[in-house]
Amino acid sequence: MVTMKEGDLQLLTEIARFESSVDLEREFKIGWSWRHVRIWPATLSRLFKDGYLENVFRSNSYTGYRLSELGSAMIAAEQNSDTHQTPQGQKLALPDDLFSDIIGHDEIKELLRACLLSEKPVHVLLAGPPALAKTLFLWDIERAAGEQGIWLVGSATSKAGLWDLVAERQPQILLIDELDKMNAADTAALLSMMEGGRLVRAKKGRELNLSNEMRVVAATNRLNTLSPELKSRFAIRRLTAYSRSEYLTVIKGVLARREGLSQEIADEVARRLDGISQDVRDAIRVARLAPQLGLEKAIRLLLGSEESS
Ligand SMILES: Nc1ncnc2c1ncn2[C@@H]1O[C@H](COP(=O)(O)OP(=O)(O)OP(=O)(O)O)[C@@H](O)[C@H]1O
Ligand SMILES: [Mg+2]
Repeated sequence: MVTMKEGDLQLLTEIARFESSVDLEREFKIGWSWRHVRIWPATLSRLFKDGYLENVFRSNSYTGYRLSELGSAMIAAEQNSDTHQTPQGQKLALPDDLFSDIIGHDEIKELLRACLLSEKPVHVLLAGPPALAKTLFLWDIERAAGEQGIWLVGSATSKAGLWDLVAERQPQILLIDELDKMNAADTAALLSMMEGGRLVRAKKGRELNLSNEMRVVAATNRLNTLSPELKSRFAIRRLTAYSRSEYLTVIKGVLARREGLSQEIADEVARRLDGISQDVRDAIRVARLAPQLGLEKAIRLLLGSEESS
């Protein structure tokens, strides 16, 4: 159901039919006009104001339109709800080696897999201190989701805004890193998207039913700045800092697999950092400078205190 004016959707459908019956790129470079689609100019002008049409060209004698992405999305959404689909065959195909680059975190892997494959959405928020592979989890899911996923970073949400992005792309999975930094408008949109897949855009009183039930996987360092209603919509998994032995296992793996160190040198770095650092990013920095500085000096310069100078 869409709260567009009664009949507007029908107009858009007619326009879409017209557009697909002609060669837009060749015959209608400057857009079609009201004569082509037999819809009154005033009506077209209103559809344009509502964002369903793009104005490709305008002169005194000719106003050329084209269906906008929003217009197309409205039609697509309607067609999807028409056929009443529980999107068949749309279940994500998750590769067996999903998350294989992440060391440990077995329960989180299992939880995320279940949430990605469940019949109805369960949204997950990974929360915890830095360098615990939260972003890595989102990356892996994004890679598996391909076209069906949208990746967002809260601190850099696109100008178009979350609503338009989701309306346009109709993703199955929304991945949001740094959720705590997302702006208020996008957070408000997210709140309604996470409930039953119904999108309400307050600004223009428009609604759009998502054809498939999108699921959200997000990450944050900070839980305490999130509103209670947002937190309530997520299954929140708290990641706790690695124990000393977990840390050693993780950095041995990361350095050998991702940083290209030999297993021996990776083990050596782990041995030297034991008790000095608990941050995986420290180990990576050490590994990157070690070829120039030597291991010992790299550790000293990166992690040493002032007194050594
Ligand atoms: N369990 C792990 N398996 C593989 N790599 C890991 C693991 N934990 C940390 N890392 C590595 O540590 C680095 C930081 O990981 P990531 O960016 O995912 O952390 P994060 O939890 O998102 O941190 P932040 O909260 O600072 O954004 C990456 O290079 C990642 O490869
Ligand atoms: Mg991160």
